[in-house]
Amino acid sequence: MRDMVAETSLSAEDFVYPVFVREGENIKEEVPSMKNIYRYSLDRLGEELAELSDLGLTKILLFGIPEYKDRLGSQAYADEGIVPKALRLIKENYPDFLVMTDVCMCQYTDHGHCGILDGSGYVKNDESLEYLGKIALAHAKAGADMLAPSDMMDGRVGYIRRLLDEEGFENTGIMSYSAKYASSFYGPFREAAGSAPSFGDRKSYQMDYRNSDEAMREHRYDIEEGADIIMVKPALAYLDIIRRTRDEFDTPLAAYNVSGEYALVMKAIEEGLASESIIEEILYAIKRAGAKIIITYHAKDYLRKKRFPGGR
Ligand code: PBG
Repeated sequence: MRDMVAETSLSAEDFVYPVFVREGENIKEEVPSMKNIYRYSLDRLGEELAELSDLGLTKILLFGIPEYKDRLGSQAYADEGIVPKALRLIKENYPDFLVMTDVCMCQYTDHGHCGILDGSGYVKNDESLEYLGKIALAHAKAGADMLAPSDMMDGRVGYIRRLLDEEGFENTGIMSYSAKYASSFYGPFREAAGSAPSFGDRKSYQMDYRNSDEAMREHRYDIEEGADIIMVKPALAYLDIIRRTRDEFDTPLAAYNVSGEYALVMKAIEEGLASESIIEEILYAIKRAGAKIIITYHAKDYLRKKRFPGGR
């Protein structure tokens, strides 16, 4: 009865699972601050994909950890970079997966910022776009289904869309990190990807968490520039932003339940402060707030253990 009248449902279809790939051989290493989340070398990536596929999870968001970093983040747009190599492998061997890729420079630059810097350490927006375009093309050529620019440079969606269309990749989609807040909830990810800025912070290009109207503006620009999916990130402290976005726009909406949110919850469960069912409660809250797509590190655990929706 309770199930019949429940207003919200969750299934494998709703989730996108983040996957970290790195150079090297025979590597499956746990991210220190993220229990059960691993970085894989390509020869072992199949283990992860098989597990996901058994759970019906066939949408992934790929993040690469390169062999080396430099000022221009050249491994991000190299055809032999880690993400293009992973894409070719997945597309050849696991054609059922829908693969989205993170388009950003921070994991690849030696300074850890999301763009190209000028002499005094400021990100140069327009020059950064050129590099983001190169990354986007390298991923599209290697078979990415959808590109996810996460840098928050102005005009990036339009720039990438035009470039993709010109180069014959009209069918490659864009999921824009349209409302991405400058947040302390990204800590564990930066450890996972080795992408913490070596100086300064990301406040000049990510959003101020005191603002909500600004998020609506950012969504609007990205939709006008051609985004197929818009996003709110992080999710939990931003459920109001998710709901407001849902009410104001009908573009498919994703929410990113980020690394710090995951790490807090896992730690609380491990310490016995909360039961595992908080995972389910959180995922339902994000869905109920209005996100159609949930990018979450909890996806596997949730699908393995889901039992009694609606509380017990
Ligand atoms: C940038 C990027 C970040 C995340 C996704 N893409 C880090 C950042 O902006 O600092 C964070 C995801 C998470 O915390 O789970 N490439």
